[in-house]
Amino acid sequence: RTISIAIDGPAAAGKSTVAKILAEDYSYLYIDTGAMYRALTYMVLKKNEDLENEAAVKEILSDAHIELVPSESGQLVFVNGENVTEQIRSHEVTNSVSIAAKHASVREEMVKRQQDMAVNGRVVMDGRDIGTHVLPNAEVKIFLRASVTERAKRRHEENLSKGFTSDLAQLELEIERRDKLDSEREVAPLKKAEDAVEIDTTSLSIQGVVDEIKKIVQE
Ligand code: C5P
Repeated sequence: RTISIAIDGPAAAGKSTVAKILAEDYSYLYIDTGAMYRALTYMVLKKNEDLENEAAVKEILSDAHIELVPSESGQLVFVNGENVTEQIRSHEVTNSVSIAAKHASVREEMVKRQQDMAVNGRVVMDGRDIGTHVLPNAEVKIFLRASVTERAKRRHEENLSKGFTSDLAQLELEIERRDKLDSEREVAPLKKAEDAVEIDTTSLSIQGVVDEIKKIVQE
């Protein structure tokens, strides 16, 4: 049985970690839609354009060939041939991406590209609007939640493991701010699809979350 799996939820809820494992276990394609909005934001910042200027941001997107390339060391992200895998995780991109992502014309184009990538099924796609807009007919829809304290703690530990320092209280504020922007925007706000299964991961291990989703896939 070929299915599509949509995973949505707020920032740092573990979506990409879980989605990658599922994709690997099922030999499905993993599509990180957040990376696409991040790649666009990187381009806008690089060109010194105003992220609030919808027409300018849309024009940059129109000229941006964004590729998600699976590799041994995880998914690589390219824009017009430039490897931006690391740059798109910068503090600056993380704290600006919600502005680029609020524009209607930008979202329309992104959704189109994402639907094209998923056209053959066998995908695990994560983001904010996958179950509600990108793949409304996905057979499995998951909405991951976790307390903001737990999400900040996970992100903090991830940073430390990569050799970066980060401030836990500051991270918590930034995550809350991003969730607020993503939930309150007018177009396709972050929201659980009616038919999505909600999983609170606060006290679950990564494998615990993966196992829960696999049970749902088998139903
Ligand atoms: O998933 P990630 O945290 O990398 O997403 C970065 C940002 O991209 C989100 O905070 C949100 O503003 C935007 N986004 C979105 N719709 C998606 C995926 C991401 O608006 N499907």
